[in-house]
Amino acid sequence: MALKVSSNLSIAAMRRKHLRAVLAVEKDNYVAPWPVASFVSELLQTNSRYYIVAMHGNFLVGYGGLMVIDSEEAHINTLTVDVQHHRQGIGTALLMDMVKEAIDREVNNLTLEVRASNEAAQALYRRFGFVPVGVRKGYYEETHEDAIIMWANSIRDPEYTNRLALIESRLSILSGGR
Ligand SMILES: CC(C)(COP(=O)(O)OP(=O)(O)OC[C@H]1O[C@@H](n2cnc3c(N)ncnc32)[C@H](O)[C@@H]1OP(=O)(O)O)[C@@H](O)C(=O)NCCC(=O)NCCS
Repeated sequence: MALKVSSNLSIAAMRRKHLRAVLAVEKDNYVAPWPVASFVSELLQTNSRYYIVAMHGNFLVGYGGLMVIDSEEAHINTLTVDVQHHRQGIGTALLMDMVKEAIDREVNNLTLEVRASNEAAQALYRRFGFVPVGVRKGYYEETHEDAIIMWANSIRDPEYTNRLALIESRLSILSGGR
């Protein structure tokens, strides 16, 4: 089945001009939203960070952030889609772009933390080959919820390339993407 990604979806580098819209989406999605200072700090670290936005025309509908540690490890720091636009393939498009960036930077493995209760995100990450490898007890301070630590290993191997191609073939239209 093809995912329903709008034909006018584009992915671009996150800039300070996007932060007002980013914060609005952030507040709608998280119990403990990042303050603007966190995004500004991330955007200043241009060598190790890769932050992107998904736009429907001029309307911001999601964003993601990648942190590269070294060739063995990069973190998905955030992946968030406007609540009105969930389940339209936008999270997939954003994650695809970040994974490709990690591969371009010759990173071998990706990791992330996700709330134990966040079935939606975990399903998306499993599709991208992430597997749970551990639990950080009470990681989320405001709710004391556990974090599941997930890894996707050997992302530069042909097997993983095939996985990405399969996911991409299900994205019916992704204009402006890579
Ligand atoms: C997680 C999130 C980014 C997914 O973005 P999205 O654009 O809705 O995801 P997609 O439409 O690309 O969905 C891709 C797959 O993820 C899974 N998925 C997404 N939402 C789901 C849901 N509500 N329930 C179950 N599975 C879900 C499905 O496998 C889906 O594929 P399908 O639609 O073919 O079944 C989005 O739900 C979100 O922003 N949530 C709040 C913030 C958050 O939790 N971010 C992750 C932090 S670790």
